[in-house]
Amino acid sequence: MKKEQLYEGKAKRVFLTDEAEALIVSYKDDATAFNGLKKGTITGKGVINNRMSNFFMQKLEKEGVPTHFIEELSERETKVKRVKIVPLEVIVRNIAAGSFSKRFGVEEGTELKNPTIEYCLKDDALGDPMINDSQIFALGLAGREELGLIAEYTFKLNDYLKSFLLECGIVLVDFKVEFGRTSAGQIVLADEISPDTCRFWDAKTREKLDKDRFRRDLGGVEDAYNEVARRIFGL
Ligand code: TMP
Repeated sequence: MKKEQLYEGKAKRVFLTDEAEALIVSYKDDATAFNGLKKGTITGKGVINNRMSNFFMQKLEKEGVPTHFIEELSERETKVKRVKIVPLEVIVRNIAAGSFSKRFGVEEGTELKNPTIEYCLKDDALGDPMINDSQIFALGLAGREELGLIAEYTFKLNDYLKSFLLECGIVLVDFKVEFGRTSAGQIVLADEISPDTCRFWDAKTREKLDKDRFRRDLGGVEDAYNEVARRIFGL
C-alpha cells in the first residue's frame, strides 16, 4: 500500500509503503538537463521509462546482476527494495559522446577501443564532479569490495544491453546507472535504465533516439522515446 511521499527527484517520486523494506517509485514526464537548468515535459516518458527499466532489470537479474526491482504495479509505478543509494553516478561508454568528447577533444561517434568506466559524485550542488577509485575509498563512499562489484555488474549490464539492443537496431553509446545498499548490505542496481539515462543511436543512420534530443533541442523527443519502446517491446 502506498503511503506518504519520501522524496521527489527530477524524474521520479518515491513513496513509503506499509512494508519497511519496500518503496514505490512513480515515474514522471518531467525532464531536466544541465543539472536542472533546463526544464520541460516529455509526454508519456514516465510510462516508457517505468516499463523499460523494469524489463531490463528483470533480464539483468537472470544475468546475475541483483537489482532493486520487486514488482510493476501500474503504468508509472513500481515496487522496489528500499536501499541507501551509493552517491555515485556510474558511467560506461562504448562510443565517444557528450562530456567525454568535450573533455578529451574526441569527435562524437568515435568507437572506443574498450568500454570505459567513470564515476561522478552524485551531488547537484557541486555539479556531479568526476571522482576516482582512491577518492571514493578516501571519502568512504564505497568499500573496495563494493566498488569491485559495482564495476563488475555495470560491465555485465553493458555487455547484455549492448547485444540485446543491437538486435533491435540500436547502438548503446553510453549510459549512467546508480547502485544502492539494501538493509542487509547487498549492492543492487537501483534507479533506472531508460532513454533518459542512456544514449541510444539508430544502428544504421546513427540518429539519436534518447534524451539528447531534449538536451540539444533536436525536436522529435516523444517520437524517439516511442520508437525505442516500439523496437524493444515490438509495440
Ligand atoms: P555525459 O556524456 O553528459 O557525461 O553523459 C553520459 C551518460 O550519462 C549519458 O548516457 C547520459 C547519462 N547522464 C545521466 O543519466 N544523467 C546525468 O545527469 C548526466 C550528465 C548524464
